[in-house]
Amino acid sequence: MVDESRDPSPAPPSPQEAVGDELLLLVDRTIDSRVVICHEPQSGVAEQYRTFRTNLVAMNAGGQPRALAITSAIKGEGKSITVANLAAAFCELPDTRVLIIDADLRAPVQASLWGIGREPGLADLMLDFVPLERVVSATSVPGLFVLPAGRVVRNSSELLGSSRMSDLVSALKADYQWILFDTPPALPFSDAATLGARIDGLLYVVRLEKTPRDQSTRALELLRNAGCNVLGSFLAGARSDDAAVRSYVLPDD
Ligand SMILES: Nc1ncnc2c1ncn2[C@@H]1O[C@H](COP(=O)(O)OP(=O)(O)OP(=O)(O)O)[C@@H](O)[C@H]1O
Ligand SMILES: [Mg+2]
Repeated sequence: MVDESRDPSPAPPSPQEAVGDELLLLVDRTIDSRVVICHEPQSGVAEQYRTFRTNLVAMNAGGQPRALAITSAIKGEGKSITVANLAAAFCELPDTRVLIIDADLRAPVQASLWGIGREPGLADLMLDFVPLERVVSATSVPGLFVLPAGRVVRNSSELLGSSRMSDLVSALKADYQWILFDTPPALPFSDAATLGARIDGLLYVVRLEKTPRDQSTRALELLRNAGCNVLGSFLAGARSDDAAVRSYVLPDD
């Protein structure tokens, strides 16, 4: 016999639940394992993403919505993984809604990192006026949404520098506190500089022992000359005992 007095639909478990003395971590396996904020929340690397987040929040004293692009000098330095982890770290703060926009229309990966469809996405939104609700996907991380890159286009830099893009960012700020753009590397492509100069700021990823120093310096100069507000850097690939140098926010000039 069914006990009518009992709630037939118990509340879903929270991502972290205490079971006896153990902490049980419930993780959506469709999320890429390199999103350590979700998969290894107690790790030193996850903690460094949180430190980076905390520094960015502290810089934003007024608490206004912010749109930031993440880039690096060359390919494969850790931009996309940094975007994913930083976004998830922001979502650990109460009442925070975050949108990842995959503006790397040349080598998009955010859809696969979060286990969502790649199309329709940003390119379709911009070119075909596909409605926003069709291109933005919720993730299993509360407060975190992803706008994937969408279909392949040839003129990505023009698209990112268009007035339609600026209008989109302004409109999205009504719904999200943080909008994080994944972008292509800055030395070979102008996309990050073009976009970065039109939004609130740019975060710069440097992969230790991979990026030649002169290339890193040249890209940073290029981004600043294009009018980007470079807010801080994240050092990817630091050993755990290098943790103190992993991220920092640049002081005001
Ligand atoms: N913080 C990190 N520490 C060590 N390795 C990392 C870190 N972040 C990313 N990686 C590794 O570096 C490689 C490239 O990462 P990712 O795809 O994020 O780079 P990217 O800069 O976005 O590359 P692309 O320029 O092709 O878009 C991946 O294999 C990833 O696992
Ligand atoms: Mg990438």
